[in-house]
Amino acid sequence: MVTPRSTRLRLLAIGGSLLLFTAPAVAGGQAAAAQPHPDGVPLRELGARQGIRIGAAANPFVLEKNRAYRTMLADQYGTLTAENVMKWDTLQPERGVFDWSHADALVEFARKHHQGMRGHTLLWHNQNPKWLTEGGFGPEELRSIMREHIRTVLERYRGRVYAWDVINEPFRDEGGELRPNMWLKTLGEDYIAEALKTAHEADPDARLYINEFGIEGRNAKSDALYELAKSLLDAGVPLHGIGFQSHFRVGGVPEDLAENMRRFTELGLEVTVTELDVSIGMPAGEKELRAQADDYRTVVETCLAVSGCKGVTVWGVGDADSWIPSWFPGWGAALPFDQGYAPKPAYSAMQEALGR
Ligand code: XIL
Repeated sequence: MVTPRSTRLRLLAIGGSLLLFTAPAVAGGQAAAAQPHPDGVPLRELGARQGIRIGAAANPFVLEKNRAYRTMLADQYGTLTAENVMKWDTLQPERGVFDWSHADALVEFARKHHQGMRGHTLLWHNQNPKWLTEGGFGPEELRSIMREHIRTVLERYRGRVYAWDVINEPFRDEGGELRPNMWLKTLGEDYIAEALKTAHEADPDARLYINEFGIEGRNAKSDALYELAKSLLDAGVPLHGIGFQSHFRVGGVPEDLAENMRRFTELGLEVTVTELDVSIGMPAGEKELRAQADDYRTVVETCLAVSGCKGVTVWGVGDADSWIPSWFPGWGAALPFDQGYAPKPAYSAMQEALGR
């Protein structure tokens, strides 16, 4: 079954900048298909037995429309991450005007299903409203806008969101340099410490993360992140964890994932796999699905083997709601459930890794 193009997330490139339209990713009609029920103990339960949390990124628009999605999310996952609705453009679309409706819907779903909630994300270079990116703010004003946003969001969800990706993707796509985003350009490197401190004041119990991609193995980028984390900790900045996004291509899980995670945990930080998916060049055959299952198994086993790894979150529920096909044409089938929310070999591999 193919999700109609029109219901997918669409990207529009205008004048070199990406405008994102998050449309309901799954047609309601798909919910009418036979409801697949995976065998065995749900991932959330297996994870809890092992002391780690197995979570998924969630989208309230799909949640509303698709029963299979809703069921899998509630039954299988012990934590939710807001895939989009806690990003700045959704939460504060106009200056000083907050729209909590979509984020609240997820937080409420999580409460009802006894799930933890991860907050994603406070400062990023994408999915920001125009008033913010095009406001031409000087350092003093931008700093106060930043502090106000963080404070307002964290205070609202205090006690209901246990961890926040305070900083998302602070490094350039490749290499070890900080990304010259609006925050860095206007406030300098200190924006990171400032944001973490502000978040900590607003919710002293929340676990505060820097979340990044391409840092899963040892390389220039993860080395730079390591140095940054170390210097923040040395300066007494409240940083508690590193999010390993882990958007892999099949066969691409680095061999030194565990070793790399450990150097961060040895600094006293926790680590979490925050956005796991494993893309396959389409069409995906049996062989690729088996290789993908091995990758999922490896990541879960690695988290279990690294004390200080708190959990694994997959970036979506099933292939029908994954961001991959829209963002990386020709790639897909990246999640443990398929287009109709039936479990794939990757699902069983995660169960096995968690000891069934
Ligand atoms: C993605 C969402 O999945 C898409 O729906 C959205 O259009 C773009 O963002 N790294 C991140 C996530 O930190 O926020 C991104 O999520 C995927 C890459």
